[in-house]
Amino acid sequence: MAKLEEMERHELDVLVIGAGGAGLRAAIEAGATGARTAVVCKSLLGKAHTVMAEGGVAAAFGNVWPEDNWQVHFRDTMRGGKMLNNWRMAQLHAQEAPERVLELEEWGALFDRTEDGRILQRDFGGHRYARLAHIGDRTGLELLRTVQQRSVALGVEVFMECKVIRLLQAPDGSVNGALGLWRESGKFVVFAAKSVILASGGVGKTWKFTSNSWESTGDGHALALWAGADMIDMECVQFHPTGMVWPPSARGLLVTEGVRGDGGVLRNAEGERFMFRYIPDFYAKETADTIEEADQWYDNKRDFRRPPELLPRDEVARSINSEVKAGRGSPHGGVFLDIASRRSPEVIKRRLPSMYHQFKELADVDITAEPMEIGPTCHYIMGGVRVEADSTQSTVPGLFAAGEVAGGMHGSNRLGGNSLSDLLVFGKRAGAYAAERALSMPGPVELDATQVEEACDAALAPFAREGENPYAVHQDLQETMQSLVGIIRTESELLEAWSLLGTLEKRAASVSVEGHRQFNPGWHLALDLESMLAVARCTTASALERKESRGGHTRDDYPLPDPDHFGKVNMVNRLVDGEVQVHEEPLPQMPDELRGLFEEAH
Ligand code: FUM
Repeated sequence: MAKLEEMERHELDVLVIGAGGAGLRAAIEAGATGARTAVVCKSLLGKAHTVMAEGGVAAAFGNVWPEDNWQVHFRDTMRGGKMLNNWRMAQLHAQEAPERVLELEEWGALFDRTEDGRILQRDFGGHRYARLAHIGDRTGLELLRTVQQRSVALGVEVFMECKVIRLLQAPDGSVNGALGLWRESGKFVVFAAKSVILASGGVGKTWKFTSNSWESTGDGHALALWAGADMIDMECVQFHPTGMVWPPSARGLLVTEGVRGDGGVLRNAEGERFMFRYIPDFYAKETADTIEEADQWYDNKRDFRRPPELLPRDEVARSINSEVKAGRGSPHGGVFLDIASRRSPEVIKRRLPSMYHQFKELADVDITAEPMEIGPTCHYIMGGVRVEADSTQSTVPGLFAAGEVAGGMHGSNRLGGNSLSDLLVFGKRAGAYAAERALSMPGPVELDATQVEEACDAALAPFAREGENPYAVHQDLQETMQSLVGIIRTESELLEAWSLLGTLEKRAASVSVEGHRQFNPGWHLALDLESMLAVARCTTASALERKESRGGHTRDDYPLPDPDHFGKVNMVNRLVDGEVQVHEEPLPQMPDELRGLFEEAH
């Protein structure tokens, strides 16, 4: 029986959960105020999913296109999110991204340069101008390395290989710490903290094919939900159009959008550039409808309209899905992404070195000579913790959220490159506001022993049970979500998923694990399963309730966006008597001066 007074304990002002870009940027900011700050992460420092944003960080510098500015970036982001975005978050993001990127440069990040020495920017889907600052196709890695070095230099403490299993709460409901589990020893640890920042990333491991690493099990989403926080837009899940489909061991691994940004095109099994058949009305005016026009655009004659391969990700992923369903897919169930016939081997190797190596090593494909086989892969969840835009505070006092775990910024579909800028902008804000709150609170934090001890007992329960192993339940959860709550959804399939989730929850509640507490991956998965099931419930509940198609939520039975709901409601999940419930709430309305930006454009 675990006893609070016998446990390892750390006293902090600010605890940051997650050591990706958002977490480390938050820690830098909080630490700089003098607040006692620490980061706790499930994996090793430097291994977060941030590295998977390969192609660049979006910021309207106007280095390549002087016409670019924050207003255009704001508008692109809102349109990409099909107007479901929290307008204030999108505004802050567009306004502050350039400063955050320049700051990275001051801290040592080495961006690719224009000929006259400024930060070079590349094209990505849904961005009107070339806007993504990048380091080849390793932008996320360089960003993470930079904030990691900065935080280490500032003396931010990092607790690695520690999974947070519960947020701790004061009698008034405010969050005052977290209970963790050292993965190596299996011992518990408590963090008493006046403010807690969730920066725990995504949920991809809930689906079968994903670009996400093993860590992305929705822990932060679940922790917030269990603590009583509101979650929004959980039905909006991004399937990145280009993940590897072959070999099976590499299935889902990301193929950066930078390939298309740098000239790569999509073809079906008949060699057809099929994207011309899928241009939505929403983007018709600015999208080329002939190959000639698209190629003129690629040749830098920017008076022409953009190629349809550079439509936002939701549009491209759905189109690929349709081609495969129509029997025009590649041998392994994807389509072809061809850059070999469009760029020289030297350019490909210089601009896309990781992609070159990834395909050579994993698939024995030379992308300078042959096309890649790709298909959609679960990459990002737009939904997450509902936060106040300026401060990032959730609906639970003391709990803040930044990066992928926070909802609102990207609406129903995120534009590529906007995640790295999001995590810098809102990571900094979270750190500042969390520290301000903590430093204004007198006295030490008092933790509730019963709360801690009950959570420890619950976590240890799988050792005392006779049941099936957690891997089987995880596999069935992934199958369920992939086949019934995937890119295209219908009411009957969502209802089937809802009912299957009930069975999976019962199975998860009785899984048993063998062995002892020291580094026991089966036990860790048993705990991760609880998080993934909470995410699955929220996504399925909201997907059932949103009876329209919008961005990363497509209903075959409601194929169009509901005109009455044109960016007008959020689906909000909340835990009521232990059950995930959903209701709609009006979206915060944009002020007239910002609304005017959309009228000017159309
Ligand atoms: O395709 C990519 O390089 C991914 C970028 C992102 O998700 O922002």
